[in-house]
Order: sequence, then structure tokens, then C-alpha cells
Amino acid sequence: MAVVGRPRRSCLAVPGSSVKMLGKAQGLPADQVFLDLEDAVAPLAKPDARKNIVAALNEGDWVGKTRVVRVNDLTTPWTYRDVIDVVEGAGANLDCVMLPKVQNAAQVQWLDMTLTQLEKTLGLEVGRIGIEAQIENAAGLVNVDAIAVASARVETIIFGPADFMASINMKSLVVGGLIPDYPGDPYHYILMRILMAARMHDKQAIDGPFLQIRDVDAFREVAKRSAALGFDGKWVLHPGQIDAANEVYSPAQADYDHAELILDAYEHYTSEVGGRLGAVMLGDEMIDEASRKMALVIAAKGRAAGQTRTSTFTPPAE
Ligand code: GLV
Ligand code: MG
Repeated sequence: MAVVGRPRRSCLAVPGSSVKMLGKAQGLPADQVFLDLEDAVAPLAKPDARKNIVAALNEGDWVGKTRVVRVNDLTTPWTYRDVIDVVEGAGANLDCVMLPKVQNAAQVQWLDMTLTQLEKTLGLEVGRIGIEAQIENAAGLVNVDAIAVASARVETIIFGPADFMASINMKSLVVGGLIPDYPGDPYHYILMRILMAARMHDKQAIDGPFLQIRDVDAFREVAKRSAALGFDGKWVLHPGQIDAANEVYSPAQADYDHAELILDAYEHYTSEVGGRLGAVMLGDEMIDEASRKMALVIAAKGRAAGQTRTSTFTPPAE
């Protein structure tokens, strides 16, 4: 399955209460920014944060970045006002609304219909604003397939590890890290469950935050695990994590070169001139149709990341 939509290798969290950080984020090389109205903003600061976010979206320079606002979840008294104020104020300059702690399809449908009403009222293109669904509790995970298809607007399914750990009583405070008492990766099932829903329904799968923001090596280790499974990107909470995320969720140069080589070689060998072959040797490796599909995934990720190949395929002389 190829990557769907714009790359979101690094998704930078920016508290809506900090005008300074809303300004600074614009110059950073993150694929996506999400301007937060939820857990990074204290209840008393939420009204001002909405205003800051509207101003930052309208007046800031976000070129090259996917612009997302995370509203509060639907069990709070804030979601309605978050959505109305942000879309009325800056709907034309917003790519997605992120809904945290989603529990079921109905919550996504509420957001879908509210966005449609706003778009119609404001004369905006109906359906352009996407939805990012954040899975942060058992209900959300159990219902993740229904959530993924609840609206055509859904673009990503995101793992929210901190809230998820709290919601299932996990005995650890190290978000996303391995737990010494558990002989495996405690997040494996959750990540795979989210990934299956995302891949089945052509959505991007995004890993959540890593809180030890000064330990970039540890961030890289955690990111590598979800990248290896097939996740498209990860949240970054600090500028220092951005380059690491962009690198980890892009193919290594050697893998990208290899993928492009497989595609070229397979196209040649399956052709008339190449001998109409279905399974052939490329160096020491046997490649067939399944190899082509795997190569397509890596090549698509590399191309989306703007990588340049450093080798070419030369058909063998007759
Ligand atoms: C993010 O929102 C998390 O809970 O990890
Ligand atoms: Mg959370």
C-alpha cells in the first residue's frame, strides 16, 4: 500500500497559548504542524489560545506544512466553541481538524457534519478540511475501523500513547518507551491495530509523542520501531526531534536506491525485450511481483520525501 496524501513524517505540536512558539514553528522543517487547544493549553487559557491560533493561521507563513488544529475532545465543554471559532476565523487557512480521544464513529460524524455546515455557511469548499482521529483509549481502539470510515474527511489515525497508557492502567510513566518488566514491546498490538485500520482504509498511520525531549537518541529508537512496522510519521514536541523524525520515516538512501532498481529491473524483465520473465535474479536476489509491490512502497516514500536516486539499472548485454 502506497503512502496516501502529503507526507507527515514529523508532526510538530505547538501550544496555542504560546504566541512565541506559534511564530517560531513557522520556520521549522516539520512536515505538519498542529496548533493545540487541548492538553498543552490550560482551561483558563483556551479562549485566548483560540484567538492566537486564528491569527497565526491567517497571518503566519506555513508554506510547505500541513496546518492542523487539535480541538478538545467531545466529553469536554470546549469542542463546539473550538471548532466554530477556528473554522469561522481561519477555515480557508486550515487543512485538518484533529479530534483527540475519539471513542466511536458518531463523534467523527458530528465533526464531519459541523465542518460541512461551517463550510456551507462560510462559502468554503465543502469537504476540503480533513479530520485526524486520535486513538487514546480502549473504546477508540476497539472501534478504530468504524472511526476510520466514519467520514471521507479522515486522513490520519494517530496513536496517543500517554492518554492510552493512563486509560488502560499501564504500569509505566515512560511514554512510548519499553517497560523493563515486560519482555516485548507493550505498544505492539496497539500500533498494529491502528496500522491495520489505516492501511485497510487508505489512511496515514501516525505515532504519538515521546516526552524525553532532550534525548533524541531515545526518540529515534522509539520512532524506528513504528517506522519499521509501516507507520508514516510521528509527533515531535521539540525542534530537536524534527530532523530525526524526517530521517527515520524516510527510507535509507540504500533502500530507496534498491527499490528504484527493483522497479526498473522488473519492468525490463517482464517486457517483451526483457524476455517476459516473472521471477528473475537482480544480483543475488530473486525478485517477482511481490518484490515490485514492496519496492513501490519504499520508492513512494522516498519520492514523497524528495529523495534522489544515486544508481541506475542497466539491462545486461545480450
Ligand atoms: C497524546 O495526546 C498522548 O496522549 O500521547
Ligand atoms: Mg493525549
